[in-house]
Amino acid sequence: MVSILVAYGSGEGQTEKVARYVGGVLTDRGHEVTVKRVTDDPTIDVGAFDAVLVGSPVNNRRHLPAVVEFVERNREVLASRPNGFFQLSLASIVPLRWAQSGAQEFVDDFVSNTGWNPDHVGRFAGAVKYSQYDPLERVLFKLVSAVTTGDTDTSRDYEYTDWEEVETFAVAFANDVEARLTARSAEERGMSGLKRASQAVAGAVLLVGVAGVAYWVAARRFTPAEC
Ligand SMILES: Cc1cc2nc3c(=O)[nH]c(=O)nc-3n(C[C@H](O)[C@H](O)[C@H](O)COP(=O)(O)O)c2cc1C
Repeated sequence: MVSILVAYGSGEGQTEKVARYVGGVLTDRGHEVTVKRVTDDPTIDVGAFDAVLVGSPVNNRRHLPAVVEFVERNREVLASRPNGFFQLSLASIVPLRWAQSGAQEFVDDFVSNTGWNPDHVGRFAGAVKYSQYDPLERVLFKLVSAVTTGDTDTSRDYEYTDWEEVETFAVAFANDVEARLTARSAEERGMSGLKRASQAVAGAVLLVGVAGVAYWVAARRFTPAEC
């Protein structure tokens, strides 16, 4: 069992839903999982976890500033343990090349802006939550939807997240974490075995040395010349 932090930011709740889903998959694998919004505990000790996942939606072609700050603050610690990043966007809804490469561009910008190159990356389709938008956003999203999904009924919300894809991402992350941390503890066990063996050799050398000195002292005390 390892401890895993799933840190996320979310505007309308879809990234939070994905973070909790991923947390559930990792918990079912027997791990100790903490799912936390980055703004709830900005000083959280990331180094206290064996592995970390970070999630953010894309808003106006950028990830949430709170998530970017969190990553910049913890970049070295993140890179020092198994880690991954997942993003939610509308670009990932559209199964066309331009949209998919647009979603990848958001990730590429994030990597070059933060300097953190995650081991695992998940690009998931998000949601359109008309019920939570202000009137201007509702109109804008209706226009975008008219030319992409056709989902223009503003009296309801639309969820596009492919939960199987999210599950595959979480399982791949769990497999990697388990393999790497098992290898690490075997290595640590090997190191401590080596340390114990070298301590035993040092002890034996010391014992032989002490016995040699004792013999030499005894031999000098009982030489025939002194009898
Ligand atoms: C104000 C706003 C701006 C957005 N800008 C983009 C964007 O530039 N590109 C994109 O692909 N999706 C964009 N989206 C879609 C969100 O990434 C998507 O709805 C996601 O599911 C939101 O996740 P959340 O509920 O955790 O905030 C935007 C959504 C909102 C509300």
